[in-house]
Amino acid sequence: MIFITGGAGFIGGNFVHHWFERLAKLGLPPEPVLVFDKLTYAGNPLTIKVHLEAGRATLIQADIADRDAVRAALAQHQPRAILHFAAESHVDRSIHGPGEFIHTNMVGTFCLIEEARAYWGALPAADKAAFRFLHVSTDEVYGSLSDTDPAFNETTAYAPNSPYSASKAGSDHLVRAYHHTYGFPTLTTNCSNNYGPYHFPEKLIPLMILNALDGKPLPVYGDGLNVRDWLFVRDHCEAICQVLEKGRLGETYNVGGKNEVKNIDVVTTICRKLDALRPKATGQYEDQITYVTDRPGHDRRYAIDPSKIEREIGWQPAETFTSGIDKTVQWFLDNTEWIDSVRSGAYRDWLNTNYQSRVA
Ligand code: NAD
Ligand code: TYD
Repeated sequence: MIFITGGAGFIGGNFVHHWFERLAKLGLPPEPVLVFDKLTYAGNPLTIKVHLEAGRATLIQADIADRDAVRAALAQHQPRAILHFAAESHVDRSIHGPGEFIHTNMVGTFCLIEEARAYWGALPAADKAAFRFLHVSTDEVYGSLSDTDPAFNETTAYAPNSPYSASKAGSDHLVRAYHHTYGFPTLTTNCSNNYGPYHFPEKLIPLMILNALDGKPLPVYGDGLNVRDWLFVRDHCEAICQVLEKGRLGETYNVGGKNEVKNIDVVTTICRKLDALRPKATGQYEDQITYVTDRPGHDRRYAIDPSKIEREIGWQPAETFTSGIDKTVQWFLDNTEWIDSVRSGAYRDWLNTNYQSRVA
């Protein structure tokens, strides 16, 4: 079985769906997963409810920094691989409160990998040789590009600029060191910005869809010309499956969709889709766009050179930005039960913290 940290979050939850759909397509039995998740504001068991109810997935609510809980779960479930998604993941939250990011992304990864190393060290030889620890990371560890810089590749120097990216960079270095020092069988993926179903509506794309439908301002930071390289979440999940199967131990793989888009173009694309699918009584959704005070230290541009994963693993994204955004907007129109479940008091508090002090 597979041990998935953060499997009730956005990418981890999509991964659980992808895992079972992929096995079914390949005609393979549903290898079970254990989701080890603290269920912070970003974790939602409803995302993976269908698999929990079917008994294919099991949920343990615990902190990756709780070594006793990690040790007990490993001993009980005997996984053949750990996929490490759990993290604090939102840059704006890391600016308002970096402590949780250090706790989960750095201390938590240390606790998890220490327990994983002890578990792996005691496995019988064949299981030990087959074991994998796959660390899911971000392109943000490489810092910010100018409009003309070449895209990030696996040898680009780390230059994290936010508490979020610094804490992810720290975790990447630990994973690298555990392979180098102990021969621990690690794989690392550094992916660009994901979007798709089950995306928590604090991030750009779901926030804009839901604010638009609610008739609220669409808050674009700064001049709106920052560039992100957008990848549909299921393409990321497939990349992780393929790296798990074929990745070389100790290596890192950059994952990206070659879909660089300016923030303002992301927002206007969403507005136009909604104009077509859910027209307003008067005016257009773009009328709601409001430029607000920029994010401190806002990285200008991210871009991924995915040639290593294409060449060595044979992975290619299936979706373009156009096809992926169509699926995403439609999903948010169709899934009001899930949306209502994440719009808790904690979510409303966050909107006040992040947006009230920004000047339009
Ligand atoms: P998310 O914030 O949606 O989900 C994180 C999950 O981790 C939640 O279920 C949460 O409950 C859980 N979690 C948080 N702290 C925990 C702890 N201490 N112990 C156990 N569980 C804990 O994040 P996401 O967007 O799904 O990102 C998943 C991973 O992918 C992260 O490592 C992130 O850095 C990386 N990543 C994200 C993106 C992106 O665009 N979202 C891009 C590249 C890489
Ligand atoms: P986000 O989804 O937070 O991802 P990241 O910061 O990890 O790239 O933001 C994506 C881009 O959108 C980023 O340049 C910041 C910008 N942004 C806004 O302009 N307004 C918003 O309300 C949010 C949340 C983000």
